[in-house]
Amino acid sequence: MRVWSVANQKGGVGKTTTTVALGCLLAQQGKRVLMLDLDPQASLGSYFGHSPESTSHSSFDWFAPPGKLDPAQLDASIHDTDASGLSLVPGNTALATMERNAVSQEGMGLAVSRALTCLWDRFDHVLIDSPPTLGVLLVNALAASEQVIVPVQTEFLAIKGVERMLNTLQMINRSRRHPLPYLLVPTLFDRRTQAGVSSFRHMRKTWPEHVWNSAIPVDTRLRDASAKGVTPLALDPDSRGIQAYGSLLKTLLKTTSEAPLVATGAVVHG
Ligand SMILES: Nc1ncnc2c1ncn2[C@@H]1O[C@H](COP(=O)(O)OP(=O)(O)OP(=O)(O)O)[C@@H](O)[C@H]1O
Ligand SMILES: [Mg+2]
Repeated sequence: MRVWSVANQKGGVGKTTTTVALGCLLAQQGKRVLMLDLDPQASLGSYFGHSPESTSHSSFDWFAPPGKLDPAQLDASIHDTDASGLSLVPGNTALATMERNAVSQEGMGLAVSRALTCLWDRFDHVLIDSPPTLGVLLVNALAASEQVIVPVQTEFLAIKGVERMLNTLQMINRSRRHPLPYLLVPTLFDRRTQAGVSSFRHMRKTWPEHVWNSAIPVDTRLRDASAKGVTPLALDPDSRGIQAYGSLLKTLLKTTSEAPLVATGAVVHG
C-alpha cells in the first residue's frame, strides 16, 4: 500500500482537486484506491455527495485511541464512488471538535496509521486530503504518508505560505527515521499572466529540487467536474487539466519508492 498526502496550510490551492484527479487516474490504471478526507470542511466528501454534517460513517470514526478502533465502523466509513476502483472516506464537521480534544489524548497522532494497517490488503493506494490548518489531523496525515504533494497556487501570496508548510514538514521529520519526501506542485497556472509566469519561475528558483518541472493549468473543466460531482476523467478525459495531472502522476510514480507503509520511517509513538 502506498500512502500519499496532499497538503498545504493555505486554503483554496487545489488540494481536493489534486486528490480527486490523482485518485481517478490511479483507479483508471487498475489500482484499488482510497481517498481519505481529513478536512473538517469535508469538501472531498461533499464533492461526491456526502453531507459534512453527517456524523457517522466518516473519517471521524478512524480516530480511536490505540486498541480501540472498531473494525465494523472502519469498514462502514468506506464508500464506493461511481468510478470503478475508487473508494472514499468522507470527512465531517465533527473532525474540528475531535481536533481540539485529541491534542491531550495519548497516541492520537498515529490514529490514521493504525487504521490503515487494517486496510493493508484492501487498497493499493491511499490519497489523503488534508486540512489547511496545523493540528492533529494534519499530523496524522503526514505521519501516515510516504510522500507529500504540496499544491501551490502560482501567485505571490500563495508562494509565501509555502514556508509555513515546509516548517511543518521539518517538525514532522524530527520524529521520523527518514525525511518525508515532498513535491511542490504549481497549480491554477495561467501562462498568459505575468503574475503566473513569474510566480512559477520564482518557485523553480527558490526550491529547485522540490518543484515539479511542469504545472497544473487553470482549467474550468476541473471546476465543472466538482460542481457535477463526477471525476474530471469521467467529465472529459482530454481536458488540459486531467492531462496535466496524468503527467504529474507519472512523475510521482517514478520518484516514489515501493517502500511499504511500515518502512516509511514513522516512529510508532503518540
Ligand atoms: N487547475 C484548476 N483550474 C480551475 N479551477 C481549479 C483548479 N484547481 C482547483 N480549482 C477550483 O478552485 C477551487 C479550490 O480548489 P480546491 O477545493 O481543490 O482547493 P483546496 O486547497 O482543497 O481548498 P480548501 O483549502 O478550501 O480545502 C475549487 O472551486 C476548484 O474547483
Ligand atoms: Mg479542500
